[in-house]
Amino acid sequence: MKKQRCVYITGGSSGIGHSLAKQYAYAGDNVVLIARDQAKLDAAVRDCKACANNALQGIAGVSIDVSDIDNLPTRVTAVIEEHGEPDILILCAGIAGNKTFLQMSSSEFDTLIAVNFTASREMARCILPAMLKKRRGKIVFMSSMSGLMGVYGYSGYCASKYAITGFAQALQQELYDTGVNAIIVCPTEVATPMIAAETDTVLPQTRLLKDLAGTLPPDRAAGIIIKGIDKNRDIVLTGFVPRLFDFSHRVFPGLFRTITRLIIGYASRKPQDIKRV
Ligand SMILES: NC(=O)c1ccc[n+]([C@@H]2O[C@H](COP(=O)([O-])OP(=O)(O)OC[C@H]3O[C@@H](n4cnc5c(N)ncnc54)[C@H](OP(=O)(O)O)[C@@H]3O)[C@@H](O)[C@H]2O)c1
Repeated sequence: MKKQRCVYITGGSSGIGHSLAKQYAYAGDNVVLIARDQAKLDAAVRDCKACANNALQGIAGVSIDVSDIDNLPTRVTAVIEEHGEPDILILCAGIAGNKTFLQMSSSEFDTLIAVNFTASREMARCILPAMLKKRRGKIVFMSSMSGLMGVYGYSGYCASKYAITGFAQALQQELYDTGVNAIIVCPTEVATPMIAAETDTVLPQTRLLKDLAGTLPPDRAAGIIIKGIDKNRDIVLTGFVPRLFDFSHRVFPGLFRTITRLIIGYASRKPQDIKRV
């Protein structure tokens, strides 16, 4: 019989995290969702319970602001005491911000780094020692294609996601032979509330660049991500087009830059035609 795992998912109340949570619940695992808004957590817990396949599964939603890093160790210890240590920690809590560098205030920029990078780093710090002791566990870092290549209008977001990618790649080397895996996930656009919130304000240059890479439904993205986690992939890309983008960006950087410039030039000239309705 398959062992029931304990999966913690930050950002589990919405979007990609919510889809991941439902799929782990469907697989029979215990799931702990972590986010700030308790009402959204309660709704997500109900959705997960509807997907669960046995009444003994533990499914809970805990309200924590993961960017409150001073209180994180105490809050996480309390969660572990109540729900047990995680076999899989998925660090999916995040925010977006689509503005050019000079449009974005320093404090908005700092918030992106604090929520997207520093909070994930400190969550990993809370959980990793116990995993190392057991010589078992997986920590999944939600980066982005914006953590592999620069994207117009995402200077703050890209900085936060590159930080995750670089940090987690170094951690992967430190974790060789420990039994613990760090997995980096770099999705292209996924149709979540985060993206819906940007619809009316997204810069046309950003929109066009993202349109070229395509948009996935959250449940489809979650399925690909879970397969990657099961296979202990170092890095999970969500399909052929992102793999092609990643390959051409690394192997033909000059060509990639030229094409990107042409696209941005086009979008800058005709924003009203390109912006999504
Ligand atoms: N959607 C995409 O196109 C896409 C592509 C690549 C990567 N990603 C990454 O995937 C992750 C999830 O994105 P999503 O699109 O699913 O976003 P989403 O639907 O907006 O969900 C974000 C989740 O993070 C939680 N959260 C935000 N700030 C938090 C905080 N300070 N403390 C605790 N929880 C917090 C939110 O709940 P509360 O607001 O209630 O706290 C929510 O559950 C993010 O890291 C994002 O950067 C998304």
